[in-house]
Amino acid sequence: MLEKITQRIESFISEIGNPRIKALSSRITSGKMLRSKLVLAICPNHPDVVDLCAIIEMIQSASLLHDDVIDESYIRRGNPSVNAVFGNKNSIMLGDVFYSKAFFELTKMDNRIAKSISNAVVELSRGEIDDVFMGEEFNTDKGKYFEMLQDKTASLISASAESAAILANLNHQKYKAYGSNLGVAFQIIDDLLDVTQESMTLGKPSMNDFKEGKTTLPYIYLYEALPKDEKKILISYFKQDKPEIRTWLKERFEKYHIISLVQSEAKRYANLAISSIKDENNKTLEEIVQNMINREF
Ligand code: FPP
Ligand code: MG
Repeated sequence: MLEKITQRIESFISEIGNPRIKALSSRITSGKMLRSKLVLAICPNHPDVVDLCAIIEMIQSASLLHDDVIDESYIRRGNPSVNAVFGNKNSIMLGDVFYSKAFFELTKMDNRIAKSISNAVVELSRGEIDDVFMGEEFNTDKGKYFEMLQDKTASLISASAESAAILANLNHQKYKAYGSNLGVAFQIIDDLLDVTQESMTLGKPSMNDFKEGKTTLPYIYLYEALPKDEKKILISYFKQDKPEIRTWLKERFEKYHIISLVQSEAKRYANLAISSIKDENNKTLEEIVQNMINREF
């Protein structure tokens, strides 16, 4: 089924009828397709399901094409990013093509789905702006971090689950809550893997967030745990990337049990996701939560 979605994306792109767009988009590798897996787990048999997944994946790709330019990231999913190979202009323009074609297709869907997905794109753009501006200084405010993450990551995951529930005539509020909590847990795990995994496993550089100016949950918890003088040292290291700083950070993550603290927070959201749909009897959705928590990249 995931293969069918990839093919639908290709056919949407072919419809635009421009060989340059085709060539550029052939460089995009599909990721885990978490959002499609959710949709398929909620309404596997609806005739519009492949279109809905293709639309969502194209919006997700558009946001990453823009994000890699904004973050100046040159590796995506283990390969050189589109901006690394073809430059920023092409990455932005290709993102625009993906985004607008997806929206054109979205207008053919149930109005409630169009509203849910388009509103999620407003939220994820708002989240990206907050993420960038929060990068100006070390952020010690957990509330702000969660708000940004709800927008940047959870919004589209939540809208995907909600839209699938609308297609399947299910209680869409429950699925929206499921997606929202799963999305928060997903990003917390992403932020955790950034500090625990090697770049080979991640398919992108490791310990990159701090260098990029992202004060993710591991760093906020570390700040809270450190004695006063070391809090100052941590702030002074913000956005730097030296081997001795990595060692300093790793030693303290271990000393203050930061990894397990962050894991517990992700699990708390994972449990909230599962309890949001507890009466829905959908084992696949529960498995998606478990696999997401246990993932290594
Ligand atoms: C990745 O975050 C980025 C996002 C999940 C969302 C980015 C959103 C935008 C750029 C707005 C897009 C707007 C339109 C119109 C499509 P990250 O940098 O923390 O994750 P990464 O490590 O995978 O790059
Ligand atoms: Mg990024």
